[in-house]
Amino acid sequence: MTKVTLIPGDGIGPEVAFAAKDVVDATGVDIEWDIVNAGADIYEKTGEFIPEALLKSIEKNRVVLKGPITTPIGKGFRSINVTLRQKFDTYANIRPLKTMPGTKGVFENVDLVVFRENTEGLYMGIEHRINEDVAEAIKVITRKGSMRIAEETFKYAKEKGRKKVTAVHKANIMKITDGLFLDCTRKVSKDYPDIEYEEKIVDNMCMQLVMYPERYDVLVMPNLYGDILSDLASGLVGGLGLVPGANIGSDIGIFEAVHGSAPDIAGKSLANPIACIMSSTMMLDYIGERERANRIRKAVWSVLKEGRHRTKDLGGNARTEEITKAICEKI
Ligand code: NAI
Ligand code: MG
Repeated sequence: MTKVTLIPGDGIGPEVAFAAKDVVDATGVDIEWDIVNAGADIYEKTGEFIPEALLKSIEKNRVVLKGPITTPIGKGFRSINVTLRQKFDTYANIRPLKTMPGTKGVFENVDLVVFRENTEGLYMGIEHRINEDVAEAIKVITRKGSMRIAEETFKYAKEKGRKKVTAVHKANIMKITDGLFLDCTRKVSKDYPDIEYEEKIVDNMCMQLVMYPERYDVLVMPNLYGDILSDLASGLVGGLGLVPGANIGSDIGIFEAVHGSAPDIAGKSLANPIACIMSSTMMLDYIGERERANRIRKAVWSVLKEGRHRTKDLGGNARTEEITKAICEKI
């Protein structure tokens, strides 16, 4: 039996997180769920944004399935999502972007994996106001942080038989910080002579991805670029409703979709649960349940292919629970 911490989140979080739980349970896997939430609603009840009980649960179980959590914009508390990634040192944010059948992606054959450094860069939260008219943020890039994301990327590329790694940067302008990041990706690339290595400046990379996504394979980059390019690339495969993710540390995995809490559609059963369901397949792989993970993937594939149950973002009118039920039935 494996114990997994389930964080429902807020907005569409509970809708998609419980959908993923139902799908995982439908495989018959022996998981005991420890359901603990965080966020503004929890703060009102308990006075803590991230309750102690949640931290304890994560520390003990070290496997987490997570729904998105809203972060106030320009004010208020610090992102709980970023805080959890830093606290548990999940340094690699891995986001596979693959064309699925019958989706509205512009491209037919996208098969990319984004590796985003997940603990430093501009997301350290070191910001201050110098005076009323000047504010400053500090971007921190370390050799340790850059080496471990580069190593994780190449190790993955080798294991999965991938052909090419592209490092994405802005070292023409941020010569010292992104320069250090590139020092590390170059160094690690030397240990993998069978994998092609190239570098692209991030603005050009945006254009490359929307025009020629088929030319790219595995991408590695600092935190902010990874955040932005993941959403950009999700548009190539049919949108945020489809793209899963994993936050991986040395002995911990927090699995969550790329998307956020989508307040515009929350509580209406319009959310596509597939991104969170596909994140749960990454979780099952992580705990060694590959066969069950593949069964879920096949079920998602065949429901999308049949096309009778598609959510609104995919041009259909299925409710979240309808597509979830269809996937469970296939399993
Ligand atoms: P978002 O990803 O929540 O939504 C962007 C757009 O995509 C919206 O139009 C939304 O309706 C749509 N969308 C997202 N997920 C969908 C799904 N599963 N099915 C169908 N449509 C979907 O990004 P937004 O609106 O910029 O952020 C909302 C909140 O989420 C913010 O507070 C942000 O900080 C937070 N956030 C949390 C994340 C996390 O918990 N890891 C990640 C990203 C954002
Ligand atoms: Mg994001």
